[in-house]
Amino acid sequence: MNNCPSALAEPVTDDSHPLTQPFTGASPYDTYVHASVLNSLQHPLTEAPDEMGFLVTTQVMELWFTLIVYEWRSARVAFAKDDLHAAMDALVRSRRALTALNGAWAPIAALTPAQFNGFRAAFGQASGFQSAMYRHMEFLLGDKSSGMLRAHRGDPAVHEALAEAYREPSLYDEVLAFLHRQGLPVPRSVRERDVTSPYTSEPGVVDVWRHIYAGPQHHPHLALGELLTDIAELVTRWRFEHVLVVRRAMGSKPGSAGSAGLAWLEKRAARPVFPELWEVRGDV
Ligand code: HEM
Repeated sequence: MNNCPSALAEPVTDDSHPLTQPFTGASPYDTYVHASVLNSLQHPLTEAPDEMGFLVTTQVMELWFTLIVYEWRSARVAFAKDDLHAAMDALVRSRRALTALNGAWAPIAALTPAQFNGFRAAFGQASGFQSAMYRHMEFLLGDKSSGMLRAHRGDPAVHEALAEAYREPSLYDEVLAFLHRQGLPVPRSVRERDVTSPYTSEPGVVDVWRHIYAGPQHHPHLALGELLTDIAELVTRWRFEHVLVVRRAMGSKPGSAGSAGLAWLEKRAARPVFPELWEVRGDV
């Protein structure tokens, strides 16, 4: 006899079981999740056995990019309202999403050049370089680029969404504005900077973080600094993992979007995220 009180734990054998009653139309699950739409979006272009894994991994990463952008945008709004609690909650959720994103490399992490060549020619000039959602993430980190925005001009809806992210302050701009309102001396040149230019390290901001990191162990904003450092580290780990996957699958061949490939990606991966949070560690 089954001791479990739940009817759901019983074997689903008889026709009157509630779980086997037909749905009217699409299931409530499908209506909510759109699983049938998601699962109809995989169209490999070849018979190569590794292409499906490559396609699904890329699509899964796009979804994690969407969630991370969502959380960083929420955090940015919360910082602008001086709601540190809500901002930290959103950043913690984004840290979990970034961890999941980084775990998503597994299915394609060990492609051999021959396996990758099995489908590479079929996708032509397609490249993750053209991912608008990834670019949106970079803009939120402060890594603005008019050139990267221009590349999307041919697709007005995508371009407009990205242009908005380009014109708006980044997440880091809002963090620094928040810290200033909290009484920390963020220089005027940083607070009034042109937010469409790429953020680069500022000595005055290193001083702000030094005050937080060198002060009492329980400085109220130390936890914020560490959370941002976790995020910076996870973004950098994604970039370096990408470099490794690329080196393994195609060595130093040029990229499909037209870059030099590995050498270009290595340079991109070396860029620090939230630079002063790394510089301050050498000063404390
Ligand atoms: C075998 C797997 C992969 C290879 C060989 C590869 C290769 C490359 C190369 C060579 C570039 C440089 C741009 C170019 O000229 O094409 C690039 C850029 C990029 N790839 Fe991949 N990629 C792989 C998987 C992925 C996946 C799964 C994603 C997830 C969406 C992705 C996202 C990106 C992004 C966002 C960029 C732009 C990076 C930046 O702007 O700094 N890649 N990739």
